Amino acid sequence: MYPEQFQESLRKVEAKRAENAAMEPTRMTAEEKDALLRQYHPDYREEQFEELVIGKNAGEKAPHELAAMLQAHARVHASDVDLLHPNYETDVLIIGAGGAGCSAAIEADEAGAKVLICTKLRPGDANTMMAEGGIQAADKENDSPAQHFLDAYGGGHFAAKKELVYKLVTEAPEDIKWLNELGVEFDKAEDGTMATVHGGGTSRKRMHAARDYTGMEIMRTLRDEVLNRKIPIMDFTAAIEIIKDEDGKAAGAVFMNMETKELIVVRAKTVIIATGGAGRMHYQGFPTSNHYGATADGLVLGYRAGAKLLYQETLQYHPTGAAYPEQIFGALVTEKVRSLGAKLVNCDGTVFVHPLETRDVEAAAIIRETGDRGKGVDTGRGKAVWLDSPMIDLKNGEGTIKARIPAMYRMFAKRGIDMTKEPILVYPTLHYQNGGLDIDTDCQTSVENLYAAGEVTGGVHGRNRLMGNSLLDVIVFGRDAGRAAGRKALSVKGDKKLSLAHVDEFEKELEKAGLNTDKVSPKLLPNYVNKDRNVYDGPMIQ
Ligand code: FUM
Repeated sequence: MYPEQFQESLRKVEAKRAENAAMEPTRMTAEEKDALLRQYHPDYREEQFEELVIGKNAGEKAPHELAAMLQAHARVHASDVDLLHPNYETDVLIIGAGGAGCSAAIEADEAGAKVLICTKLRPGDANTMMAEGGIQAADKENDSPAQHFLDAYGGGHFAAKKELVYKLVTEAPEDIKWLNELGVEFDKAEDGTMATVHGGGTSRKRMHAARDYTGMEIMRTLRDEVLNRKIPIMDFTAAIEIIKDEDGKAAGAVFMNMETKELIVVRAKTVIIATGGAGRMHYQGFPTSNHYGATADGLVLGYRAGAKLLYQETLQYHPTGAAYPEQIFGALVTEKVRSLGAKLVNCDGTVFVHPLETRDVEAAAIIRETGDRGKGVDTGRGKAVWLDSPMIDLKNGEGTIKARIPAMYRMFAKRGIDMTKEPILVYPTLHYQNGGLDIDTDCQTSVENLYAAGEVTGGVHGRNRLMGNSLLDVIVFGRDAGRAAGRKALSVKGDKKLSLAHVDEFEKELEKAGLNTDKVSPKLLPNYVNKDRNVYDGPMIQ
């Protein structure tokens, strides 16, 4: 039940609900989308970006917050550690224990390599765990990987690396089968076939889901498999620098125990960065749907080691972050709510955008509606729009919300809002980094023996990702990275001298460029306390 301030707008939404539910909103033309994005999408706010001056991407744009981390001081130098006597040695070192890290570990183990996983929080503390709506794969008769390719490549503004999209879509059906056989409880129809729905920008219903906790179900299964295989995991241990060998190839990493701050040296034949995203960087002050550790660490580790980034300036703002009540501010309201039939309406109850345009277009339309058009709903913490969730049961029959998106229902019900009867308030939330470490089809970065997989990479999704292609990305490229790094490790001798000389080189470059920064990186965790005022200093809606 909403307080009085929302009642007038709510009455308008209710009055138009039946008519809105029955109508088919028009799709925008390519030109209209382009103009909308340029004017309203946060990626186009020039003043929010700066040019990198050192490293492999010097001369290219990055968000200020990321540039500050990429061009910061290191947390460790050669004199702080004993590189001659590593604490641990392994074949494949995996940094990160989310969907990509665990998939990689399983396949590297399968390839016969000795594997060690290190993660700064607990295994499964990752954006994979938070993913709700689903995972794409063209495994139905009316669909094909070619169709999936066209959707993903077009949705990413034709900017993705085609060879990576090809792998994504062609390996998808086999990877869904693999997950199913490992034990993921996908939603099935009565005849046992997979239940699938549309996502924004999909031309076929190819979104496979486990209700609206798909990521949690996948993560649970992968983590169990890692544990069953007895693959060692060092938790609460954050990677702070990649180690190279005397030939400039990746050869391990320095870690820091998150509690004791003890430094740990791991020597490895190949290294996989699978550290995930950057939502907790709160670019442009946006709230986020990401887990607590999503602080762009992998980009920093790779960049300082000499790896190239791709599309580091493109971010995904999920159109429907929860905007009310305050306790769930920025939390993900899955796109599946719109897949199942809910539409976005403004303060007058008017539908202002097709509910399944691609995410960047959808987010820009909400920013326009609440901004220049002045049709937002005041939440007390900024403006928002309604997502008219009761349309779902109206369209599909009573009980659909509770059966298909129970996590959404519970999240709002716990706060006194019954989304089967009342609409919910939403506004874009920082959700995904479209860009990241540039990889080849073996998931190798531009540094030899340094691999990367999952959200930390760039190029798979171009400049915008479609729903359900990130869970797919972590499985496809996580597995591929594990196979490639596992294979490669078996041919690396691992007898070269370890070095952190690249860190000193980077420090020299900082100085030469006159970058007088007091920042150190990687960031590791967000800081929400304003030390001067001792108050919460988190993000607000614009
Ligand atoms: O809306 C969602 O459920 C998010 C899915 C995704 O980012 O792929």
